Amino acid sequence: MDISSILQGGYQHPLSRSWQARRHLTKSMFMYPIFITDDPNASVIIPSLPGQRRWGVNKLEEFLGPLVKKGLESVILFGVPLNCQKDMQGTPADDPTGPVILAIKKLRELFPTLYIACDVCLCEYTDHGHCGLLHGDGTIDTAPSVQRIAEVAVNYAKAGAHCVAPSDMMDGRIKAIKRGLIDAGYGNKCTLMAYSAKFASSLYGPFRDAAGSAPSFGNRKCYQLPPTGRGLARRAIQRDAAEGADIIMVKPALPYLDIIADAAQIAPDHPLACYQVSGEFAMIHAGAAAGVYDLKTMAFESVESMVRAGATLILSYFTPEFLEWL
Ligand code: PBG
Ligand code: ZN
Repeated sequence: MDISSILQGGYQHPLSRSWQARRHLTKSMFMYPIFITDDPNASVIIPSLPGQRRWGVNKLEEFLGPLVKKGLESVILFGVPLNCQKDMQGTPADDPTGPVILAIKKLRELFPTLYIACDVCLCEYTDHGHCGLLHGDGTIDTAPSVQRIAEVAVNYAKAGAHCVAPSDMMDGRIKAIKRGLIDAGYGNKCTLMAYSAKFASSLYGPFRDAAGSAPSFGNRKCYQLPPTGRGLARRAIQRDAAEGADIIMVKPALPYLDIIADAAQIAPDHPLACYQVSGEFAMIHAGAAAGVYDLKTMAFESVESMVRAGATLILSYFTPEFLEWL
């Protein structure tokens, strides 16, 4: 056989296999998405998301304390208001007595080293369940949407969030939030993580159950990107980097590894996040339960693919498991 035909000599040992990676998974690459509800004592199982719960502020210490001990370094908060009056503007989003703002303050106090990101969106707080404000005909009214989203982001920063992460996909929100943060004195105190390439995906179902954020009519296809839209994703990444994003995100992750690789090339000087979303997590669990593969092996394969594509940060419901496994 030709000398140049032989590759197996290079990866015959577990150690030489590990050297094949350009970058390795570490605990600090994981950001854990958590759902905070407005019953302060809640600890409610979410049936479609194995192992995940809706938590009340009073439960955060017993929930996260053990994980912080195992090396948890960052979380991203999602508010699930169940006892509030939703309206057209998503007023409860930045209610000072609402679950997100109370949780930011509580977590800053309980875990001074924990990095706290907040998802910024209106769909959990609007009566119509869409991510922005609407015209009478049900289409997005962009300018006031962006203004309201920026206001909410600044209020999370004021409450102590280290990072705000708008997931609404309204045009121009990155520029408006960055401007808002700077004008409020938080330009150098709060990271802006842009869900830049967020696709209109079937994989958000369990999240919408968990957060009660399904739209009451229509769908999100006029603001989230079409799954075929690689060019649009590239333009969105470019735009958000130019508008002042500090971190670029691609979402979902596994079906969009080409977009992660594109983002790594378009914005090589930014950290690159990807979100292994609720449906990806549920799918990996379902496949394991059906005997298709071993859960841990598949969980590793999925996130290692993301790192290989170029991700430097992974939002994942598997975070508690990876703190054990790594
Ligand atoms: C809200 C939001 C969604 C997710 C994160 N932020 C749902 C959606 O856009 O419909 C999905 C996260 C997941 O599925 O884990 N805009
Ligand atoms: Zn939304």
